[in-house]
Amino acid sequence: MTEPLIGIHDLSLATAHYRLDHDALARHLGVDPAKFHVGLGQDAMSIPAADEDIVTMAATAAQPIIARHGGDRIRTVLFATESGVDQSKAAGLYVHGLLGLPTTCRVVELKQACYSATAALQFAAALIAREPAQQVLVLTGDVAKYALGSTGEPTQGAAAVAMLITAEPAILRLDTPSGLYSDDVSDFWRPNYRTEAVVDGKLSVEAYQHAIEQAWADYRYRGGRDLSEFAACCYHQPFTRMAYKAHRHLLHHAGSDAAPGTDLDSVLAAGTIYNRAVGNSYAASAYVGLASLLDHRDDLANRPIAIISYGSGSVAEFLSGVIEPGYHQHLRSAANAGAIARRRPITYAHYRELHQVEIPADGGDHKIEQESTGPYRLAALSGHRRIYESAEGRHHSSSLIQGK
Ligand code: HMG
Repeated sequence: MTEPLIGIHDLSLATAHYRLDHDALARHLGVDPAKFHVGLGQDAMSIPAADEDIVTMAATAAQPIIARHGGDRIRTVLFATESGVDQSKAAGLYVHGLLGLPTTCRVVELKQACYSATAALQFAAALIAREPAQQVLVLTGDVAKYALGSTGEPTQGAAAVAMLITAEPAILRLDTPSGLYSDDVSDFWRPNYRTEAVVDGKLSVEAYQHAIEQAWADYRYRGGRDLSEFAACCYHQPFTRMAYKAHRHLLHHAGSDAAPGTDLDSVLAAGTIYNRAVGNSYAASAYVGLASLLDHRDDLANRPIAIISYGSGSVAEFLSGVIEPGYHQHLRSAANAGAIARRRPITYAHYRELHQVEIPADGGDHKIEQESTGPYRLAALSGHRRIYESAEGRHHSSSLIQGK
């Protein structure tokens, strides 16, 4: 029996309502803007309004996928995030409700810093290999937040990506070998009692490079392709210069940095365009990079690409796949670019105000003023419940459970 081809059938991007330009940040921090534009490779970062979170961004990303394909064959929803809104309930359940997905479905949340979306993709592929008629909706989204005035502040951002994983995919078919590496490292983490991450920035950059080098070695050992075969490489991008640093590191490790044709821009640049404007989106970042690559290159049909995933703490995976012929017809390039272009510039004072906003924890009734203009928003908190609103109206959790 031949194995079914499995991979990404549809992919859609959403981001937040506001954007803070790095020029404004540099001005307020008294830093040379070139440090951000050239040194980090960032121009702007997405900032969620007070009525946005990972649920609203992920539902916004997934809604057009469900509109195009329907939800009937979706048996599993996996939400990969490190910005969870609850210690117990999977954020995907809110999205499942907002999108009206079938109740005959499993919904779970996955966490391992910026790596977890790649785990979700692999788990989805394994489920489909077992039952090729089913589809898996992979959601990934995060709000990257660091303390004001910290070195991490210019590497904030927010975005979500939704991907429909199926047999006989229209966009990307995954290769079977992938390379893995895990190690217990304290480079970046967020204890339960903190809203901002704790980070050892320099260590994190070193840990990232070491982990992807080891994951790549495992990928090669398992019969993976040579680096020179890839038409493009999509890296996890805490800031876009990191993709260049990491790729240079891998080429050096592979002994091919001096080889002819190793023009970094030709394999990296297209996959950094969206990330440069959105900032870090943690678990979603490599897939924001994939959306950017697909939307900006028209020469990828039948060519292999690599996805290089890193999550602090740390886990790395080097995976690859081949782009399907005709992939263009299935992309959402205008909508993806529109989500980024539509963001409203935020004043520095408003950005600081939003940075300090805390969700009330008293269990009372709190209405959240409408600020965002997307299809979904966090409308209220009541009895510790989160109440989301779609353009059509309010979404409450199942009335059966609430005894109404
Ligand atoms: P820093 O100390 O502010 O910056 O921290 P720097 O002094 O290292 O400068 C950065 C670059 O800008 C350097 O280039 C400078 O030379 C250059 P490099 O030497 O690296 O090539 N530079 C300039 N260039 C042009 N004109 C100028 C100028 N000035 C300086 N005038 C750091 C940077 C990344 C450490 C900080 O932003 C940080 O802590 N960020 C948060 C952590 C992070 O992003 N780590 C990345 C790897 S870990 C990861 O990716 C996982 C993560 O996403 C979390 C997860 O998994 O969940 C973070």
